[in-house]
Amino acid sequence: MSLLFTPKKIGTLELPNRFVHSATYEGMARGSGEVSDELIKRYEKLAKGGVGLIIPGYMGVHPTGRAYPYQISIDSDEMIPGLKKLADTVHREGGKIVFQLNHAGRQTTRGMIGQTPMAPSSNGRDPIYFVKPKEMAEDEIREMIKAFGAAARRAGQAGADGIQLHGAHGYLINEFLSPFFNTRTDSWGGSDENRFRFLKEVLQEIKTVVPDDFPILVKLNTHDYTPKQGITPGLAVKYAERLAALGIDGVEVSCGTGNYSYMNMCRGDVPTDEFLKALPWWQKPMGRLMIGKLEGKYELEEGYNLAAARMIKPVLGDTPLFLVGGMRTVAHMEEVLENNDADFISMSRPFIREPFLVNKIKEGKMDRVSCVSCNRCFAAIPNDLPVYCYNKGFPK
Ligand SMILES: Cc1cc2nc3c(=O)[nH]c(=O)nc-3n(C[C@H](O)[C@H](O)[C@H](O)COP(=O)(O)O)c2cc1C
Ligand code: SF4
Repeated sequence: MSLLFTPKKIGTLELPNRFVHSATYEGMARGSGEVSDELIKRYEKLAKGGVGLIIPGYMGVHPTGRAYPYQISIDSDEMIPGLKKLADTVHREGGKIVFQLNHAGRQTTRGMIGQTPMAPSSNGRDPIYFVKPKEMAEDEIREMIKAFGAAARRAGQAGADGIQLHGAHGYLINEFLSPFFNTRTDSWGGSDENRFRFLKEVLQEIKTVVPDDFPILVKLNTHDYTPKQGITPGLAVKYAERLAALGIDGVEVSCGTGNYSYMNMCRGDVPTDEFLKALPWWQKPMGRLMIGKLEGKYELEEGYNLAAARMIKPVLGDTPLFLVGGMRTVAHMEEVLENNDADFISMSRPFIREPFLVNKIKEGKMDRVSCVSCNRCFAAIPNDLPVYCYNKGFPK
């Protein structure tokens, strides 16, 4: 039998197969951050489709960490009933669900959160959010660590099977880990150990509020692709080693940041027209120039985080590695597992297009996913559209 359909545990949680729905922002929550019926339907379908583990789109742990208007929130107890409905729905269909916890850090706007976005350091005004963030004070760092803990507690109360900390794509945890975003010289920056401290303290806080056997995963950037050196695969190896030593239950490897290298994160075509639609008229000429320059440079190479995964796998020991990024053919997925380069195959865009793809693979009905990485689902995000497959274009 194909390794893809053999069970494997993350911590105490046994997953029936090696397919994971990587966290994917849906743009379907209510303006309040509460789970909507549209969201429930999306995950009901996915669970029916046979995927071993579902990680929904990132959930905001604090009002200052909200990235988008229709993002799920887990920042207050009022969110628990909706989150419970989500977890119960997935469980009813026989699925497992892990909540991804996130704080956007500098990757949000004043308009979204009602104050200047915060980050480990105040360096630079970035090219997407145009934000010069406020450097976090010690008490704000402590408050955010507590917020991650409270969110993890809520995830448990809502019946999630575990949590994943979003340490990738340029958000707050990634910013602390990155020598590009984090230029602090106090005990939160200046050395690998100090830059790792925020994530470590978040983990320690979470362990005080959830049961010992509650699975905790981390999505880690292996390359930030920032103008000056941020996280590189070499540094990611060191962080992964620390995570394994802390007893984490799984590491998902990804790359790219929202503000400097979003096309590294989601490789494939650059949907220039759809991205431009999201800009006000006065930004369109500059936008066309900047986005146009990216066209043709991010061809989707199958398994584009595989080289980094191969560097990280040996230091993880028994801690499972989840590989995301351009996994598209069944033969390649099988090869990755057989070579022990990863333990789980994570996908995002393919599941947007085909929620039932795992069952189809199991039945031998497909040998490659049909997503063509046109990235129009990705461009739906800045346009405030719910995330669906828009391969044929946005709705008129
Ligand atoms: C529409 C969209 C939304 C995404 N939202 C998230 C998210 O909420 N959290 C996250 O960690 N990654 C997010 N990602 C990144 C994916 O999880 C994944 O890392 C990336 O798309 C590469 O995998 P793929 O080639 O299978 O799509 C998103 C990607 C897309 C296209
Ligand atoms: S719009 Fe559809 S085909 Fe294009 S990347 Fe998204 S899921 Fe794939």
